[in-house]
Amino acid sequence: METTMWAVDKNVDNLKTYPQIKEAAQNLKKNEVIAFPTETVYGLGGNAKSDEAVLKIFEAKGRPGDNPLIIHISDRKQIQSFVKAIPEKAILLMDAFWPGPLTIILENKSGVLSEKATAGLSTVGVRMPDHPVALALIEASGLPLAAPSANLSGKPSPTTAAHVAEDLTGRIAGIVDGGATGVGLESTVVDCTVEIPVILRPGGVTKEQLEEVVGEVSVDPALKDSDQTPKSPGMKYRHYAPNAPFYLVKGTKEQIQQMVNEKRNGRLKVGVMTTKENKNFYDADVVIATGEREKLETVAESLYDTLRAFNQENLDIIFGEVFPEQGVGQAIMNRLTKASGLPIIEK
Ligand code: TXA
Ligand code: MG
Repeated sequence: METTMWAVDKNVDNLKTYPQIKEAAQNLKKNEVIAFPTETVYGLGGNAKSDEAVLKIFEAKGRPGDNPLIIHISDRKQIQSFVKAIPEKAILLMDAFWPGPLTIILENKSGVLSEKATAGLSTVGVRMPDHPVALALIEASGLPLAAPSANLSGKPSPTTAAHVAEDLTGRIAGIVDGGATGVGLESTVVDCTVEIPVILRPGGVTKEQLEEVVGEVSVDPALKDSDQTPKSPGMKYRHYAPNAPFYLVKGTKEQIQQMVNEKRNGRLKVGVMTTKENKNFYDADVVIATGEREKLETVAESLYDTLRAFNQENLDIIFGEVFPEQGVGQAIMNRLTKASGLPIIEK
């Protein structure tokens, strides 16, 4: 299949009338699947009401069928047709964070959305992205769009159109290139079908920010305890993995350098993932700085690009620094431990 690339300038007025957006929307109406930018990561969108379109999404990504998709909307009115009710706390969260990086789980009204999109669950995750291109495309298509991240399953989520092309060229009808995304990590997923909302996946909106709006919020205990089954099906899979074994190290930079030296003495090619502050300290085969430790949002923004960049090098092993699990640090550490899949080395 030929994959069309549509470049658009996200800053122009009235984007939905642009030929690139119209053409991409036409494809969506014909149940083709199209990658597009959001403020978090690129999504792979398809008509959420069509089994045909949703199957194409799962196929293009190689995604397990038991992992439900997030439904993207551009107007809150769209939700009424496919959810049973919107609880008070969900409304408060929509008022505070939409459009934005927050996915809200609600009770699904059966028979409207493709059951393949919701993986047959009685609930559905909904989000209104804060990106002019995403909003224009949803509006121009007139459809709710089911959209997972636009990467091959298991790879880091894409934060540029080039990342999408690397994974999905030849597998999808097109890519709308609207430049690099902003937040860099996927949306926070919060279950609002229960009295006290539960974070199922940490992301762009922090627990502290949610609590300011709705009071107590809990976190799915499975995120910390690998013996429990996560309530968000996607959280049970290893994700974002670099090709080489990737160890997170809780220790000083001197201790990390020591480990690097030992591996290099054994003739291994070693990578280090650090931040701008320590970039010049390390002596290794490849050292990549992902943002600044003092500004964790910048770490989030470049994290997936860094994980992909390590795969361009033929490394035998990678060591990475850890981050404090506060604010967006929670989402960063969640993604890093998934990318590693190995116990953290405590020095
Ligand atoms: O920022 C984002 O959320 C991006 C952009 C494209 O919007 N999308 C994204 O989708 O990250 P995806 O498919 O990669 O991740 C969706 C996550 C999965 O962990 C999935 O299991 C969970 O949301 N999810 C979706 N519907 C759910 C539901 N009804 N109950 C529990 N978890 C759900
Ligand atoms: Mg994903």
